[in-house]
Amino acid sequence: MASKRMRYSLGVTLLFSLTVLAQQPQTVLQGIYTEDQAKRGQAIYKEQCATCHGDALGGRIGPPLTGQDFIGNWNKQPLSELVSKIRNTMPQDGPGKLSGQQAADVVAYLIQAAKFPAGRSELSADEAALKQIIWPAATAAQTRPSPSASQAPSFPPTGNLAQVMRGILFPSSNIIFTAQTHDPGAPPKQSTTPGAAAEEGFNWIVWGGNLYSGWELVDYAAVALAESAPLMLTPGRRCENGKPVPVDQPDWIKFTQELAEAGRAAYKASQTRSQEAVSEVSNQVADACLNCHQAYRDKGGRGLNALDPSNKANRCTK
Ligand code: HEC
Ligand code: HEC
Repeated sequence: MASKRMRYSLGVTLLFSLTVLAQQPQTVLQGIYTEDQAKRGQAIYKEQCATCHGDALGGRIGPPLTGQDFIGNWNKQPLSELVSKIRNTMPQDGPGKLSGQQAADVVAYLIQAAKFPAGRSELSADEAALKQIIWPAATAAQTRPSPSASQAPSFPPTGNLAQVMRGILFPSSNIIFTAQTHDPGAPPKQSTTPGAAAEEGFNWIVWGGNLYSGWELVDYAAVALAESAPLMLTPGRRCENGKPVPVDQPDWIKFTQELAEAGRAAYKASQTRSQEAVSEVSNQVADACLNCHQAYRDKGGRGLNALDPSNKANRCTK
């Protein structure tokens, strides 16, 4: 009886302390990997990564995986992000080959190369545990210097707002919306008739349709959305009806920020290589478009038909 009770309470204590451990944030300064693990990681790196990232991590066709720029890119998020970036998208020419453990081993090697100390327990491949590991505040302060305003060239608008929408936002968001019903990870269909895509109308697939993988296309579409948000604020741009783009209106600026956030969220979701995650985030993208359109594009007239000419005259006004 007594021994049973003891085991029971030991179990409870163990469980309790494990939970506490799991919830305690750690930093990469606290010996989060072992020397042996880093050695294993180095061996994987040499074999599968060095051709693109350089023998000494200095970069070649891929970016350096050491140094200030690299750390500055990853130190604002938990270590889980770096591990899943590697696991889901690397090696770039054949992603998905590394196990979770191997990805953690490579990260142990990268952490060692960045001169953070080794410790007594290995870096775990467990997502929840990795989420608890952050970078110390000192590394988070590193930001890249931006060129001074006087040197920056100016880029006057080339198109009106509708053209920017149709040329950049429309095709990019369509790729993301398509991920709701089509798996970006599915192997590309081999067309038996060359130029078959052309029969379906004029589109960019005719040249370059197979150049990038489905998941890469989703990545790039998300980047395009996020990066195009500042174009909503280019001074001097006009709408199709000649009215100036309302770049000074606080709600316009807010809608622009929502677009940038939605693009960044879509990129993050795409990097997880989960169709479900992208489907989910596509709602945020749709909302970002809709919120601004309700205020500035779909201006009454007959219903919400955006192509109704009676709407177009009032676009871009309050
Ligand atoms: C065929 C070339 C190639 C191979 C092989 C390759 N990478 Fe990459 N890697 C790239 C390119 C190009 C990028 C930049 C584009 C991107 O971020 O997806 C990149 C980006 C990265 C990044 C993000 C770096 C940053 O600062 O944002 C990490 C981390 C990374 N690779 C790790 C690895 C690891 C680990 C391996 C081996 C398992 C590996 N890569 C193999 C080409 C490669
Ligand atoms: C900050 C406000 C804003 C955001 C955000 C925004 N739009 Fe627009 N959009 C407009 C306005 C205003 C117009 C009308 C432009 C004009 O008439 O020159 C427009 C026009 C369009 C058109 C052209 C419609 C036509 O008449 O042919 C498309 C397509 C479009 N937007 C797609 C999108 C998509 C997709 C998104 C989200 C990824 C988006 N927009 C986000 C404000 C916005």
